[in-house]
Amino acid sequence: MANGPPQPVRTGRNQARQRRFWTRRAVSWDHGAGTNPGLVKVVEMVVEQARGRKEEHAVDLGCGSGQVTLALAPHVASVLAVDISEEMIRLLGENTRAGGVTNVHGEAIPVEELSFAPGSVDLVVSNYALHHLRDADKPVLVQRAYEWLAPGGRLVVGDMMFGRGGDARDREIIASKATLLLRKGPGGWWRILKNSGRYLLRFQERPISISSWQRIFSEAGFDDVSATQVVSEAAVVRGVKPRPQPEGPREEPGSPG
Ligand SMILES: C[S@@+](CC[C@H](N)C(=O)[O-])C[C@H]1O[C@@H](n2cnc3c(N)ncnc32)[C@H](O)[C@@H]1O
Repeated sequence: MANGPPQPVRTGRNQARQRRFWTRRAVSWDHGAGTNPGLVKVVEMVVEQARGRKEEHAVDLGCGSGQVTLALAPHVASVLAVDISEEMIRLLGENTRAGGVTNVHGEAIPVEELSFAPGSVDLVVSNYALHHLRDADKPVLVQRAYEWLAPGGRLVVGDMMFGRGGDARDREIIASKATLLLRKGPGGWWRILKNSGRYLLRFQERPISISSWQRIFSEAGFDDVSATQVVSEAAVVRGVKPRPQPEGPREEPGSPG
């Protein structure tokens, strides 16, 4: 990249807030995620786009209680599942034991603090987690994932992807979320107020548009960057770390043609 890799920024306050928030919500997320039809579709798309192979080692960033991890585990050699909330990792442990899954390891650590040897990971996936990162931390993480991946490795990110109302799709998504909440009466009106703070002031939810994610992937060096919209608010973006080009035959200087 022309200006060198993006630099990490101080994230301590955001991490503390995310840890508190998700520790409180862990049990209800664990119970509800499997019956949320939109989320289930995005999980399925992340696993489909990951195209995991039996010999591959995967990392799931912001794994929650295992929504993608457990669906991916049968397709790969191992999944390292990482979440900022210890409670989520505890629930992940319960879920892996209940399912007899033996190739998953959970770690309670913020994704911003992860580090792996260059080229040591085949697949990095994430679902509905990276919109919680501060905007400046998103390209830093994507750049790091690029370094961790072996050539041919994939980064697959599913998430709510929309901006703050800058284009027609953004406005449609924001309006449909508000309409749903309006219909719920006073409880919903309160949530509209809370969500306006969360999304507009960006202290809890910081989604960015599909095209912003695609640009971040391309700037990190990923090839074949693709985006698939799954439900109105969510999409899956995928990129492949290029393999080094084999050296072609060298042309002799001055040879004809
Ligand atoms: C909406 S839940 C999604 C969980 C799961 N990936 C799924 O598909 O259902 C977001 C998850 O991201 C985690 N998270 C938020 N910020 C994080 C961070 N900085 N590092 C690691 N995990 C984080 C939360 O603890 C939470 O489990």
